[in-house]
Order: sequence, then structure tokens, then C-alpha cells
Amino acid sequence: MPWTRPTAGDRSAAAAYPAAMQAIADFIPPMPPPAPREPSAIGGLLRARRDVLSIFPRDAYRRQVFTTRLPGRLILVANAPQVVREVFVTRHEIYQRKSRFLEDALRPVVGGSCFIASGDDWAEKREAISPPIHPSGLAQFHPCYIQAAETCAEGLARAEGPVDVAAAYAAAISHVLLLAMFGDTASADEARIIAETFTAYQDAAEVVDLFGLMGLPDMLGWLTRRRAKRLAAELRGRVARLIDAAGPEGGTPLLKALRAAHRADGSPVLTGERLLDEVVMFLLAGAEGAAITLTWTTMLAALHPPTAERMAAELPAAPPGHADLQGLAYTRAVVQESMRLYPPVAVFARQATEPDRIRRWDIRKGDIVLAVPWLLHRHEALWEAPNAFRPERFLGDAPRQRPRFAYMPFGVGPRICAGAAFGMAEVMVFAAILFRRFRFTLAPGFTPQPNCRLALRPRGGMRMLVAPR
Ligand code: HEM
Repeated sequence: MPWTRPTAGDRSAAAAYPAAMQAIADFIPPMPPPAPREPSAIGGLLRARRDVLSIFPRDAYRRQVFTTRLPGRLILVANAPQVVREVFVTRHEIYQRKSRFLEDALRPVVGGSCFIASGDDWAEKREAISPPIHPSGLAQFHPCYIQAAETCAEGLARAEGPVDVAAAYAAAISHVLLLAMFGDTASADEARIIAETFTAYQDAAEVVDLFGLMGLPDMLGWLTRRRAKRLAAELRGRVARLIDAAGPEGGTPLLKALRAAHRADGSPVLTGERLLDEVVMFLLAGAEGAAITLTWTTMLAALHPPTAERMAAELPAAPPGHADLQGLAYTRAVVQESMRLYPPVAVFARQATEPDRIRRWDIRKGDIVLAVPWLLHRHEALWEAPNAFRPERFLGDAPRQRPRFAYMPFGVGPRICAGAAFGMAEVMVFAAILFRRFRFTLAPGFTPQPNCRLALRPRGGMRMLVAPR
């Protein structure tokens, strides 16, 4: 893509790192090479069909702001913490609407849920879904994390030969969300089917929507569109049956709280299809980020044995209690560093709802503004040895030395992830159980490849050998 030249560079934050950290021998985990040369806008979009990350040239990791122009539309990348703040926090009102691409890609599955709603509709839904997953109430979900993690561990222990841990974690984290929403009536098998259907949906949906983004007639996509529609209907049908089975008064405290959310006049916010939208969104948005985080963290542990050993030494023999999670500082740092190197949502895309100006660029209604955690998390002005795996970046005082908005695995501004604490807690429980019990190695001949479409998943899964410690 023909990106514009950079504006003045960031003042380097690298100097803020403790010398001891710089002395650690570096391990550079897998990453795609930067785009070899700047392709045309259309060429870039065609590459983006297979992998969004493949379109960024080397100096995208140095610039503050850059743009490209498609027919009738500007795309601007806010690539410095202060620009991200201006766009996603200070002027949230103008940029709160997700891109049409994302809206179109997710609507068949999550309907008009909080994840893609905008304006007053979003504010009302966000207020309805947030209290039941507030950090102060997370202890109630702890048994769900433990049950699903133990079931997952049993499955891994039984495996003979290589296992795709990406698929295993997607099923297991879906299980967490099903347990939290429907209790024991929801089986691990049901969770696996939901996770597999969503993976198939993502594969089918992205082709259709990228053609749409290019403004091209969707001549090749009719087959995949039909397939995507069928998969979306299957997903929604499964979840609708679970809601029906719970009955109008039944279900877990989480489901009851969603049903009970009401407006000032006492009318319920979420009924019928609107309730279904939010429940499906919880199951998918809630599972995707955590499963992907665990997958990349497992890969890092497999490729860097000293890290795996240090985590195992910290982790308790019995599953940790909710209150114990805070004490697992090193394991948490490994998870945070994993989300820096492989942010599950690697690109945030918004469309301007009114004209604006960002730095020297005029923004028209409908133009697209991106924040790209993949770039910001590896930005040369923000991170010492940006591509190196160094969990120590998240220990002690180090995080406070960095600019805010240099690190944003859970998003930024009012639309920040509503389930960040929930997600972090479940990942920590899984990490504690799995990394204490197993030693992971990559399956012979398998090479992990980050691949970003709707989310940053490993292309072809993550094939591993799993051995008891
Ligand atoms: C490690 C796990 C997770 C990660 C990395 C993650 C990441 C994110 C990110 C980056 C966003 C913002 C996307 C954007 O601005 O375009 C987001 C939004 C959201 N996430 Fe998460 N998430 C995780 C877990 C969860 C869980 C467990 C739940 C629910 C139980 C959840 C519910 C939501 C919701 C409702 C939104 C939409 C918020 C809004 O637009 O107001 N997430 N998540």
C-alpha cells in the first residue's frame, strides 16, 4: 500500500529500560517479514485478504501517523500513543463507530450487540452488560475457569501424538463462557462445536467482507457468503436453544443479570433477539481473546524453555484460588508479554462519523482510522528490542516507565474491553494449571505463523506435543 511519509519521530522511550533487562540474551519469536516493498492500494488489500500484517512495510514500525487512499476513502493509522489518545479517547464521539468492514463481518453472528453497536444504542447495551462481569464480582466465575481448565488438561493428557492446542483452547474457553452463562447444562462438547463453527465462520466471512471494503462487486464471494450465513445461523440457533432450555426465569446469575438490565422507566433492555445478540457476543468475543492469548503463550513457553521452567517453579501444585492469581507475578508477566507480541485484536478500525482533522490530514465522514496494536507493541520508539521476548518488561516498576497507550491488548477509551479482568483471570487459571502440569514442544516439522484476519490466530493452528512434567 502506498503509505505516506512519516511525521516527526517519537522521542525514544527505550532509554527508560533498566540496564539489567537489556543484558538478557534475546529470543525473537516468529513474526511475518515486513512487506518487501510498498504495493499499490488494491494490491495491499488483496494481500490483506490473507493476512492484514503482511501489508506493513518496515518503516510502519517507526512512524507516528501514516495514511493510504482507496477510491473515495482515506485510511489513517494512528501510530503513536498521543495520536491514539487524541482519536480514541479525546474524540471518542467522532470515532466510536467500528469500521463497516467489522460491522458487516460480525453482524450475521452477533446481531446488533454491544461489540458493534454505536451511539446511544451502544451506551445502553454497554451499561447493561458491564455490571455482571465487573472485576469486583469475578470470584463467582472462578469455579467455571477451574472446571473448564481441568477438563482441557484431561483432554491434553489423553492425547497421543501432536495436538492443535489452538483448537483445544478455543473449545475450553468457550466451555468457560457456557458454564458462566448456562451452568452445568452446557457440555464441553457443545462448547467445542460452537468454537469450531466460529472458526469456520471467520474463514468464510473475511473474504466476503474484504471484497466489500475494496468497493468491488463480490463476484467470487457468493459461495462463501452462503456458507458464512449458514454457519452464523447455526451458531445463533445453538445459543437460542440454550437460552430457551434455561427458561424465562432460569439460568446462572450472569444470564439473569443480563435479562434483568432495565431502563429508567423500568422496561428491560435485553429481550428476545437483543438478548440473544449479547449472549452470542459474550460467548464469542469472550472466548476469542483468551483462547488466542493462551495459544501464543504456550508457543512462547515451548520455544523458550527457561521461561517454562520459571513459570512452573512459581505455580502452585493445586489449582490456584481466585485470590492467589495476583501472586503469580512471573506467569502474569509472561502472559502480558505474549499479548504485546501477539495482541489477539491486532487492529482496531473505526469510521469517522463527522468531518475532522488529525494532524495535517482532513478526515471526511466515513474515512477509516486505525490503531494497530501489532505496530504499537513493536514500535521502535516505544520498546527496547521490540521483537524480543522479555517478560521482565512487565515486572516491578517497568510498566510505569512507558507511555500510556503504548500497550493496549484490551483496547482503549470508552470502548475498552468490558471483560478484560474476566479474560485475564481465566487465562491465568489455565496457565497455572497447564504450565504446572505439562511441558509443551512444537510438533516436529510444524512452524507457527501469525495470521491476522478478524483476530491474530496462528495459521493452521498450533500443533504441539504435550508431555507430563
Ligand atoms: C484475554 C482476553 C480478551 C482480550 C485480549 C480482549 C480484547 C478486546 C479488545 C481489544 C476489545 C476492543 C475492540 C475494539 O476496540 O475494536 C474488546 C472488546 C470487548 N470485549 Fe474483550 N477481550 C478479552 C476477553 C473478553 C471477555 C472474557 C469478555 C466477556 C466476558 C469480553 C467482552 C468484550 C466486550 C463486550 C467488548 C466490546 C466493548 C465495547 O465495544 O464497548 N472480552 N475485547
